[in-house]
Amino acid sequence: MFVLGLQGSPRSKGNTSTLLSAFLDEVEKSGGRVKNLDVTRMKILPCLGCGTCEKKGYCPRDDDMQAMYPVLREADLVVLATPIYFYGPTAQMKLFIDRSQALWSRKYVLGMEDPGRKWRQGFLLAVGATKGKNIFDGTKLTAKYFFDAVGADFSGTLGYRKVEHVGDIDSHPTALGDARARAKELTAPFLNRKKLLFVCTENACRSQMAAAFARQMAGDRFEVESAGSAPAEKSNPMMETVMVEKGLDMAYLKPEAISDLPDGWQPDFVVSMGCEVDCPTFPGAVMEDWDLSDPAEESVAFMRDIRDQVENRVENFISEHMPS
Ligand SMILES: Cc1cc2nc3c(=O)[nH]c(=O)nc-3n(C[C@H](O)[C@H](O)[C@H](O)COP(=O)(O)O)c2cc1C
Repeated sequence: MFVLGLQGSPRSKGNTSTLLSAFLDEVEKSGGRVKNLDVTRMKILPCLGCGTCEKKGYCPRDDDMQAMYPVLREADLVVLATPIYFYGPTAQMKLFIDRSQALWSRKYVLGMEDPGRKWRQGFLLAVGATKGKNIFDGTKLTAKYFFDAVGADFSGTLGYRKVEHVGDIDSHPTALGDARARAKELTAPFLNRKKLLFVCTENACRSQMAAAFARQMAGDRFEVESAGSAPAEKSNPMMETVMVEKGLDMAYLKPEAISDLPDGWQPDFVVSMGCEVDCPTFPGAVMEDWDLSDPAEESVAFMRDIRDQVENRVENFISEHMPS
């Protein structure tokens, strides 16, 4: 389980940061993996509204945001944490939000679905100095559409009024405890999933496709990873094309080595695609091999055939091991 926290206050030890840290600390204690990203320290340029993402599916602005698209795609839960500035999120957070337009375009203009979309959750943490009834309304709306763009369901808000000076949140009677409780609650369903690893040689075609289908079909029951014994430089473009025919967006995936799997991540199931070389062993895991031909150097028709075989096998695997 991976939780991405987006810290949006320029005060690095301010109320937002304390609240988010409490939330993420509880996730870690429960056994989840976290990344606490200080958005205000990143170099993120504003969206120019140039329309490149609508035509080509990517943002041409060359800055720290480029590395964030894959991280957003990897997250099971995205936590947006911001102080209220003029009834909205901070300008730094808004830059980040606006640049998620590239993901919005991939979905709504180009018609591709992120394989993690069905199960990813989004949560909002916010603080404001005043006691106004509506102080969180603008930010909640912005968060709702941000979460939709990054492929997450908006699963709630914790917002605290009359929190102004650094340290105010520490003396709030319930805030930090609430954040910990919500973290536990939101994390629990993800932690009960079985760990499923797909491996092949290059992690550029077969195991990537299998992982995407498994995430889409059963990301609530399986925590899915894929890796290769000798990973390629990049995913196979023809594989990406044939997956788009299935409506699945394979962008921002990079072939990974088996040694790059998260620390201490022990799979319950390992499925190899056709163990030509260096097939790894994982003590304690249920292993199976699907003996699928490598489509890397073959025709598009061959790639489609492998894709369809992978899809069927993933479907059968899920109904055999973890039906809904
Ligand atoms: C530029 C600016 C605008 C603000 N606008 C609002 C506002 O509209 N409503 C509100 O309740 N508080 C507003 N505040 C107060 C902050 O939300 C509040 O101090 C918060 O606790 C800061 O969180 P932090 O410690 O994480 O930076 C504003 C503060 C600043 C600096």
